Amino acid sequence: MMDLHCHILPGLDDGAADPGISLEMAAMAASSGVTHIFATPHCNTRNVQQNFHSPALIRAYTDLQDAVDEAGIPVKILSGAEVLARGHFEDHLAAGDFMTLNGSRYLLLEFYFDEDPAYMEQCLRAVEAEGLVPVVAHPERYYCVQRAPMLAQQWADDGRVLQLNKGSLLGDLGEEAYVTAALLLRRRAVSVIASDAHHFLHRTPHFGALLNCLAQRFPEADPELLLYENPLKIAKDQTL
Ligand SMILES: [Fe+2]
Repeated sequence: MMDLHCHILPGLDDGAADPGISLEMAAMAASSGVTHIFATPHCNTRNVQQNFHSPALIRAYTDLQDAVDEAGIPVKILSGAEVLARGHFEDHLAAGDFMTLNGSRYLLLEFYFDEDPAYMEQCLRAVEAEGLVPVVAHPERYYCVQRAPMLAQQWADDGRVLQLNKGSLLGDLGEEAYVTAALLLRRRAVSVIASDAHHFLHRTPHFGALLNCLAQRFPEADPELLLYENPLKIAKDQTL
């Protein structure tokens, strides 16, 4: 499996606080069958590290890969970021400040939970105007999508990629997120499920419970497609 969304880089956001935690997370992911982790620190957030495209950020991916290799953990670290659409988002987008997923055309994008759908649409179009494809992180967590899931269905129909959080399907992120995630998954609007892991004790990168959940509750979902084939196409910059 490939985990498209994981806060595994140490010390850059509210994910792994230090390299030891990053290695625990990588080992846990590997033990559940994950072979590739897109390291996606928060980017363009308020009052914390911006994590824009920079030599220092690129070094953070390679430093973690070196540490993972040294620890003998069979996982490849791929580059990325989870870009928050706020503030001077469009200026930074035009300036090329954001790390796409493994250098591809795919940009992992998140919004404030209470964001206005009109601003979301404006940002999605701005991403597309740059020749990029938006990957909407955890659409099931946004209040406007919870109120009207067809909004996210329309995004998918328009070629935007939807990435569910495994925690939503496991019921860890509230009833509304679960119901919305289940609906979008059953409607086949979803292309990827990822961990959005922040630690090895809570919101973890272990995929075991998710696989059981999919088999028992969502037999119509295709784990191979959602957890491997689509993330692989994104890593290779191929069309989904
Ligand atoms: Fe995240």
